Amino acid sequence: MKPYNPPLSGRRAFGGMLLDFNERTMPPSSKVLKAIADFLKSNELQLYPEYGKLEKKLAQYAGVTEDQIMITNGSDQAIDLIFRAFTETNDTVIIPSPSFAMFYQSAQIIGNKILRPLYKKGSLLFPLEELLKMINKSVKLIVICNPNNPTGTLAPIEDVRKIAQKARNAIILVDEAYFEFSKVTVISLIKKYPNIIITRTLSKAFGLPSLRLGYIVASKIYINELLKMRGPYDVNMVAFTAALAALDDRKEMRKYASEVMNQAKPMIEEFFTKNGITFYQSAGNFLLYKPLLKQEEKILRDNGILVRPQNKTNIEKTLRISIGTVNQMKQFIKVYKNVILSKTQPKKYAFIDRDGTLIFEPQDTFQIDSIKKLKILDGVITGLKTLVEKRYELIMVTNQNGLGTASFPWPNFQAPQNKMLSIFEKNGIKFKKIYICPHLPVKNCSCRKPKVGLVKKFLKENLIDQEQSFFCGDKTTDRLFAENIGIKYIPMQTNGDFYQILTEGGIL
Ligand SMILES: Cc1ncc(COP(=O)(O)O)c(C=O)c1O
Repeated sequence: MKPYNPPLSGRRAFGGMLLDFNERTMPPSSKVLKAIADFLKSNELQLYPEYGKLEKKLAQYAGVTEDQIMITNGSDQAIDLIFRAFTETNDTVIIPSPSFAMFYQSAQIIGNKILRPLYKKGSLLFPLEELLKMINKSVKLIVICNPNNPTGTLAPIEDVRKIAQKARNAIILVDEAYFEFSKVTVISLIKKYPNIIITRTLSKAFGLPSLRLGYIVASKIYINELLKMRGPYDVNMVAFTAALAALDDRKEMRKYASEVMNQAKPMIEEFFTKNGITFYQSAGNFLLYKPLLKQEEKILRDNGILVRPQNKTNIEKTLRISIGTVNQMKQFIKVYKNVILSKTQPKKYAFIDRDGTLIFEPQDTFQIDSIKKLKILDGVITGLKTLVEKRYELIMVTNQNGLGTASFPWPNFQAPQNKMLSIFEKNGIKFKKIYICPHLPVKNCSCRKPKVGLVKKFLKENLIDQEQSFFCGDKTTDRLFAENIGIKYIPMQTNGDFYQILTEGGIL
């Protein structure tokens, strides 16, 4: 077994938007904060916990009687207690998969045999038929995570009823951690099917995961069994106090949940749909989607947004994103447009030769090896500026025969090159990439124009608008280079007027 190690480290110091843990994205009700502060002032930290009122309040919230409620240290503890109370080594348990890690953790500790009917490929719908077929006498516990984390899938109440009906000898653990978002509960089934045990939590919509408060809703006979297993003080008094206050301010929680589910989520769904991004129907405050880019999770992280990568069966290479407030999701959309969508749309590139095209090329030595020899050609500044205005990305591709050898040392090249670039920069002109082949023709290298070795990686990593991109140069090798990368060629007369050539070529 491996420890259950969620990728938490560094999150608090991250500073950006944390959309990776299905948490509430805003602090809890201010009444909760006040209640905790009051408790700390009450001088009761040295006393052992004393519960009571909370079960009553939870019972009222859930619409059951007080003896049908048990509070736990997060619903993780509730899940663990249920597995420990009702299964033994080698008992069969059914966990529709992929699902929340804690179920597998508890089952593995006990040594259960785990059957994993898969959420349906493509739709990720609940695998009812497959699950029903798996039910036999050896099955002791069936998990229904409703809605399921990470797929967001909701099993209809009628499906849960059919399962409870068929598996009379098994416990049906229904995890309703996201009930406040889905608004679907199977509490009404408990009376007829006492084998249904529900876990819930104040970690999600109420926003108290750091305090760890969960609870179980079940028939009295099962609560009595579970109470034998829980420690007398497993829930601490800060969590207890906060939970009471949170339950007293349900209006605040409902307002948050409603903004998430009725405004923010539809907004993200519409954005994904409009941009051809596949996502799955979710009844929770999170969405599973297929990223457009391989590195999407890292790119989002580098741009201030954490999301959770998933790579289990039937949800390979997906990302799960928590849904927050409308403003937060607007921010997500803005970042997504800038750093992800922009990379999926082809860009216009102006590939440009240097010597004889942008700067004067002496016809005797063919080398510009001093600042003295640097002369920017006519129409270059205006031409490049206009290209920038027309949203072309500029790429320089140049052969520099024997650069780095005794006859043409690097510093002799760099001085005029840097000078040229600084003049460009003063005019708001920046080359995105500068590719230089330093070899002599006899080397027969793969990077010398017309070969495409210099730009091979660039062409692989960037989407190029083949219609509008072009290469402008003054030699036959330049024309062949343009042909080799499949873009238009704009022929320059050596040392001619750059702006005029682009205008005549129909670029400007
Ligand atoms: C389905 C599901 N159940 C339970 C939990 C655990 O919640 P708690 O903080 O109450 O332990 C989570 C948390 O992510 C969850 O997704």
